[in-house]
Amino acid sequence: MSLTKLLLLVVYLTHVICEEGPIVNDAKANFDTNVYEESQSTNGNKIPDDVVGGGDGPDGSEEINEHDTSSSSSADTNAYTIPTVTLKSGYKMPLLGLGTDKLEGDTVRIVKEALEIGYRLIDTAKNYEATWTESSEVAIAKGIAASGVPRSEIFLTTKIMPDFFGMKEMRKAVKECLKDLQTDYLDLLLLHHPSCAEDDTECNPTGTLLEGWKNMAAMVNEGLVRDIGVSNVFPQQIKNLSIEGEKPISVLQNWFDPYHQDRRTRAVAAKNGIAFTGYSTLGVVWTDEGIRKNPVFMDSTIKQIADRRNCAPSDVVLKWAVTRGVAVIPGSTNSTHLRMNYNSLKVKLTEEDLMLMDGLNNKLTDDYGSSGMAGGEL
Ligand SMILES: NC(=O)c1ccc[n+]([C@@H]2O[C@H](COP(=O)([O-])OP(=O)(O)OC[C@H]3O[C@@H](n4cnc5c(N)ncnc54)[C@H](OP(=O)(O)O)[C@@H]3O)[C@@H](O)[C@H]2O)c1
Ligand SMILES: *[C@@H]1O[C@H](CO)[C@@H](O)[C@H](O)[C@H]1NC(C)=O
Ligand SMILES: *[C@@H]1O[C@H](CO)[C@@H](O)[C@H](O)[C@H]1NC(C)=O
Repeated sequence: MSLTKLLLLVVYLTHVICEEGPIVNDAKANFDTNVYEESQSTNGNKIPDDVVGGGDGPDGSEEINEHDTSSSSSADTNAYTIPTVTLKSGYKMPLLGLGTDKLEGDTVRIVKEALEIGYRLIDTAKNYEATWTESSEVAIAKGIAASGVPRSEIFLTTKIMPDFFGMKEMRKAVKECLKDLQTDYLDLLLLHHPSCAEDDTECNPTGTLLEGWKNMAAMVNEGLVRDIGVSNVFPQQIKNLSIEGEKPISVLQNWFDPYHQDRRTRAVAAKNGIAFTGYSTLGVVWTDEGIRKNPVFMDSTIKQIADRRNCAPSDVVLKWAVTRGVAVIPGSTNSTHLRMNYNSLKVKLTEEDLMLMDGLNNKLTDDYGSSGMAGGEL
C-alpha cells in the first residue's frame, strides 16, 4: 500500500470512528427534513444537497430532483413525477418503485399495469420466480413489452446470490439477467446477500463478499451495469467495502419498516453517500407467514395519522419513508393497492406526523413472536 493510500485510510477511519457516536445516539438528525414538501415549495428547482439520507456523503452527490406536483391536481389517476436520488454514476433512481417478489403468476399483468400507472422502477432478483417454469425477470420483460414504455424510461434493479460472486459465474449471471430482461444494461445490480445462509444448502458461494464486489465493479467497466450496490449488510461490511472495494457503493437495500428503522446502517450509508432502499416497508416481516395480521396496518399511531390526513396507513408509511430519504419498493398483486402506493407520495404529512412515525422504531422487538426473519438478524 502506498503512503498516500495509507494516509487516506487513516483519515477515512478517523472520520468514520469520530462521527459514529452522535449519529448512533441521535439518528433522527440525519433524516430530519421533509424532502418532498420542501421540494414542492421550490416549484421544481433542485433542493439543497443535505436533505436526503445520503446528503452528507463524501462526494456530496446525493440530491432529490423534484418537479412541481402541485399542478398535477387532486385527481388520483394523474401521473406525477416521482422524486429521484442521483447515484454515484450520475444516473437518477426513483424513490418509489415496484417490488416483484411473490407477484408470482401476476407478474406480467402487474408490471404492465404499474408502468401504465406511472411506476418507473422495477426491483427483481435473479432467484425470484413468476411460475415454476418462468423466472420473474422473464415475466418482467413481457410486462415491459406489453406496456410499450421504452426501456430508457425504466430503472431496472436485479440482485445476485453468492453463487455468482466468482468472476466467471458473475459474468455468466449478468449476461443471463440481461437476456431474460431483454435489455443490454442493468441500471442497478446488487449483491443479494453477503454470504449464504447457514441453513441454505442450495447456496454455493463462488467467492467472498469482497471478491463479488470487485467482480461486480468489472461489470460496470464492461458497460453491462450502471450502478452497483449491496443488500442485507451490516455497517462494518459497508465500511470494509468502502475502503477495500475498487468502486464505491451506490445503493444499499435493507429491511426497513416503522418498527425496524435500521438507523445505524442508514447513518453509515448516509455518511458514504450511499442511497438507501428499504424493503418490506409495509411490515410484512412481522406477519409470521400470514398467520398473524400485519401489525403495521393495525398500529393505532399510524391509523390516527391516516385518519387525520384522510388516507390509508400504507400511504402514511410510504410517504414517511421517502420523506426520511428511504427509497421504497412496495409490491402488490392488487390493482387498487398498486395505484394507492403509486399515489402515496401525494399525501401531505406534517412534521409532527413524521416525528410520531420516527417514534415507532423498536416498538416491536426481535422477540415479538417466532417469525424467523423478525427474530433473526439480517
Ligand atoms: N433484498 C432483499 O433481500 C429483499 C427481501 C425482501 C423483499 N425485497 C424486495 O422488496 C419488495 C417489497 O418487499 P415485500 O414484498 O417483502 O413487502 P411489501 O411490498 O412491503 O409488502 C407486500 C405485501 O403488502 C401488501 N400490500 C401492498 N400494498 C398494500 C396496500 N396499499 N395496502 C394493503 N396491503 C398492501 C401486499 O398484499 P396485496 O398483494 O394483497 O396487496 C403484500 O402482502 C419485494 O417485492 C422485493 O422486490 C428484497
Ligand atoms: C472487515 O475487515 C477486517 C479487516 O480485513 C476483517 O477483520 C473483518 O472481519 C471485516 N468485517 C466484516 C464484517 O466483514
Ligand atoms: C384489493 O384491495 C382493496 C382495498 O384494500 C380491497 O377492497 C379489494 O377487495 C382487494 N381486491 C382483491 C382482489 O383482493
